[in-house]
Amino acid sequence: MILLNGKSTSEALKNELKEKVDQRRAAGKKIPHLAAVLVGNDGASLTYVGSKVRSCEKIGFQSTLIHLEETISEMELLQQIDQLNQDESLDGYIVQLPLPKHINEEKILLAIDPNKDVDGFHPSNFGRMALEMDAFIPATPFGIIEMLERYQIETSGKHCVVVGRSHIVGRPISILMSQKGTAGNATVTLAHSRTKDLKALTLQADIIVMALGIPEFLKADMVKEGVVVIDVGITRVTDTSHPKGYVIRGDVDFDGVAAKASAITPVPGGVGPMTIAMLLKNTLLACERRD
Ligand code: GUN
Repeated sequence: MILLNGKSTSEALKNELKEKVDQRRAAGKKIPHLAAVLVGNDGASLTYVGSKVRSCEKIGFQSTLIHLEETISEMELLQQIDQLNQDESLDGYIVQLPLPKHINEEKILLAIDPNKDVDGFHPSNFGRMALEMDAFIPATPFGIIEMLERYQIETSGKHCVVVGRSHIVGRPISILMSQKGTAGNATVTLAHSRTKDLKALTLQADIIVMALGIPEFLKADMVKEGVVVIDVGITRVTDTSHPKGYVIRGDVDFDGVAAKASAITPVPGGVGPMTIAMLLKNTLLACERRD
C-alpha cells in the first residue's frame, strides 16, 4: 500500500516554487504577492488563512492578511474587493469561505477580478476550466491532480467515483478527471446525497474521491481490493482527551480501508497541505501572466 503523502509532496512543490521566486528576485522581477480576506473569527478559517500566509512567507512571496469584522456589511466588503482589484501590487487574492450569513457569497465571488481569482471560484475561471482553456483551477482539485501525477497513479480508462458535488471540490474534480491529459481520461461517476445504493458504485470504483464532509463514512466493506482512495474530508470531531478538544477526521475509515487500498491519502497530511501549495502555484502563475 502506498501512502500518498501530501505533506512531503507539498514540501517538494513549495521548494520548487521557492526556487522560482529566488530566480525572479535575482532577475529583478516582481515578487508574487497574495492577499487573503478573512471575515469574522471562525476557528477553522483562522487556521487555514494563517497557514496560507505562513506558507507565503516561507517561500518568499509577499502576503497580506485582511481581517475584517464579522459585522461588516456586504457593501463594505464589495468596496474592499474593488480596492483589491485595483491594487497593482497584488497578483492574486482569496476571500476565505464561508462568509457570514448576511453576506451573499455569490455576489462577492462575482466581484473578484478573474485575473486575480487564484482560488478559481469565479464563473469565468470555472467555465474556462470546464472548456479546457487556460484558467485558475481551484486549489483542492488541482492538488489532487498534482498528487496523482507525482505518484504516477494511472487514471486513464479507470472508473473514478467522486462522492460529493460541492463547487469547490466534487464538481471540479469530476470534470478534471474526465478531461484529456495526465490524471485524466477516467470514466467518472459523480455521486451525492440523492445517489441510490452508493455502496454498489464505490464497490466498482478503481479510484474514489471522498468529498462529503461526513467523518469516517467510507468503510472497508464499501471498497474493492486495490482501490486508490483520495480523502478530502477535514471535519473537527470533539475529543476531550486531546489538548485542543477536537481531532481532525477524514471521510474515510482509514485503518479499515487502507488494508484493502493500493494507495490512500491520510488525514491530516494528505490533500490538505497540497491545497495550500497549489494556491501558491496559482499565485505564481498570476504573477507570471502579469510580467
Ligand atoms: N473554504 C474552504 N476551502 C476554501 C478554499 O479553498 N478557498 C477559500 N477561499 N475558502 C475555502
